Amino acid sequence: MDAVTIRDVLAGKSDGSKVRIRGWLQGKRSSGGIVFLQIRDGTGVIQSTLRKESVDASVFGEFVSAKTESTVQVEGLVKADPRAAGGREVQVSTGKVDYAALDEYPIAKQAHGPEFLLDQRHLFVRDEKMRAILRIRAAALSAMRSWFDSHGYLEVQVPVLTSAAVEGGSTLFEVKYFEGKAYLTQSWQLYAEALIASVGKIYTVAPSFRAEKSRTRRHLTEYWHVEAESPWMELDGIIKVEEELLTFVLQHLIKDCGVELKLFERNIEDLARVKPPFPRITYDEAIEKITGKSGIKWGEDLGYEHEKLLTEYFDRPFFVTGYPKQVKAFYHKQDPGRPDVTLSVDMLAPEGYGEITGGGQRIEEYDALVARMREEGLDPRAYGWYLDLRKYGSVPHSGFGMGLERLVSWVCRLEHIRDAIAFPRLINRVYP
Ligand code: 4AD
Ligand code: MG
Repeated sequence: MDAVTIRDVLAGKSDGSKVRIRGWLQGKRSSGGIVFLQIRDGTGVIQSTLRKESVDASVFGEFVSAKTESTVQVEGLVKADPRAAGGREVQVSTGKVDYAALDEYPIAKQAHGPEFLLDQRHLFVRDEKMRAILRIRAAALSAMRSWFDSHGYLEVQVPVLTSAAVEGGSTLFEVKYFEGKAYLTQSWQLYAEALIASVGKIYTVAPSFRAEKSRTRRHLTEYWHVEAESPWMELDGIIKVEEELLTFVLQHLIKDCGVELKLFERNIEDLARVKPPFPRITYDEAIEKITGKSGIKWGEDLGYEHEKLLTEYFDRPFFVTGYPKQVKAFYHKQDPGRPDVTLSVDMLAPEGYGEITGGGQRIEEYDALVARMREEGLDPRAYGWYLDLRKYGSVPHSGFGMGLERLVSWVCRLEHIRDAIAFPRLINRVYP
């Protein structure tokens, strides 16, 4: 008999018939001559009931002594049972343990400390919430791709190994590159600006790297970056792209990930009320709102604590525009009416989460770009090819980058960004 997926069984596709399922023995409970197995196969978890009088003694014995997370298979009749989680169970007629777990499973039901669970991450990814997060990540990405694809954006890929900084030298990872050196990319930015002259509106989904020296609840050293860039687009245009995209993604999550979202302290209404246009404030207004509470002065970057204060004013994601040029990377275009600020925009998530996207309009004029590089102490010769883009057919253009884990952290109300990715890379962790 071919194995069926637990997802299909739970969906009622095999009610009243006999099936074979296989999976990991997630849990087990005995009561008299009955053993209740919780079997997980990657598509779902189902209760399977083994009665001493209904199976061979050797099969019963094998399951009674099977350790947690052994791989097993069972055959039996699918019965609706309101007491079982999922509403259905398999009444086992036969089965076997395929690969018995060799030791007691190190992750017990009781609470473990975060460092222990990070050390056991290769096993902890089997946890119910981790599984839900992986599904939510995938659903969010799939929705983003589908939004971009249906709005004329082409998916492209650019190098991870690069020769120059994009977002400032302080978070750059240097790697040995044969006799010389290279850097792990912080953003696709510079390459994106080359590719818009090739194929127009584009997006990518790729890892970005930041040698963040601080331990915070929202920084990974390696994260997944969804970035988009468009020619003939100004600041307002990219803001609209971001709000439409996020709205679409959240609607998709509401529709497809209801079960997963229930595991987190997230009300669907929080996501459902996110609709364009999102609230917008300027950096100036932001400073005005929080200077009394935080002491921040005009010209300083908004740090996590500042953003947290700002999020108290909003119950949905909102934009902050017009950051001073000194807190943004060199490629940000200055506001023609006010050269001390840039045509930049960050999207901040409410409830203390803060920045989930960064972007804006880029400098399109050659001279202005060289001037900004010099001001930032960058050597224009290191950016030769990038400057060429302003020599051969420049265009007003804008783009943004969204940290996938930042988005998932907010959507799932996670305490720490490390739980938004299967194998987090943190200042003190590259294992497992
Ligand atoms: O604001 P950032 O640095 O902007 C850029 O990299 C632009 N070049 C993007 C663009 O315009 N194409 O990073 C963009 C986003 C942030 O808003 C945040 O969501 C995420 O990337 N991010 C991080 N996520 C996790 N860990 C980190 N250390 C992150 N640093 C940035
Ligand atoms: Mg930023």
